[in-house]
Amino acid sequence: MRVIVAKTLEEMGKEAGAIVAEGMRAKPHYVLGLATGDTPKPLYRELIRLHKEEDLDFSTTVSFNLDEYIGLPATHDQSYRYFMDHELFNHVNIVKANTHVPDGMTDDVETHCLVYEATIEDVGGIDCQVLGIGRNGHIGFNEPGSSLASRTRAVDLTESTIEANAPHFPNPEDMPRRAITMGIGTILESEKIIMLACGPKKAAAVAAALEGPVCVKCPASALQLHPDVTFVVTEDAATGLTLKFRR
Ligand code: PGA
Repeated sequence: MRVIVAKTLEEMGKEAGAIVAEGMRAKPHYVLGLATGDTPKPLYRELIRLHKEEDLDFSTTVSFNLDEYIGLPATHDQSYRYFMDHELFNHVNIVKANTHVPDGMTDDVETHCLVYEATIEDVGGIDCQVLGIGRNGHIGFNEPGSSLASRTRAVDLTESTIEANAPHFPNPEDMPRRAITMGIGTILESEKIIMLACGPKKAAAVAAALEGPVCVKCPASALQLHPDVTFVVTEDAATGLTLKFRR
């Protein structure tokens, strides 16, 4: 796996943005897999800049988000659909109908997940999947213990994830305890994967993902099985790595 250690969040966003933009410019109808959370925000700022200043065209881009909370409507400001609209989609020329986020309000989760997978397959699969990492090593909402072959499904969130995300809710008790997430098996089928991480709280998870054993205790360790993964991490998230991965 390739590891790029960035000095700043802005640099992390620019490094990742350059990889995404190169793919988008090389292939029309590029299929992007997208992530939410604080980590990918510098990447989305860079993609917006590239669109506005360097003509990066999203008009034929298709996107699939990793996950969504069960029970939050798209209008809720903590829903991932709301996040994506505000952090990226509303600022570029992507066609909203081509953007896919699991529906947290579906009344048939199982069918919805099957259709989500089938829709990814119908467009030829994901060309480039952007990921963040949880402090516990999760990717999407695939918490420790998730099967490395898992597919899109409903999952229970762990205490560590609830503790990390609940402060974003005005009333932390309102944070949903369940979510829909693409599976690890789904993620591994992407052509290319970019993992972003920043901050000292991610250092142990980044080290376990890159240098630990491939095991369900650290879902991100499954990325070691993929042939085209680039970690773009800030220095404070890289402190657990051995020298061979440091610049
Ligand atoms: P964060 O979340 O970017 O808000 O830290 C990442 C994750 O939990 O996957």
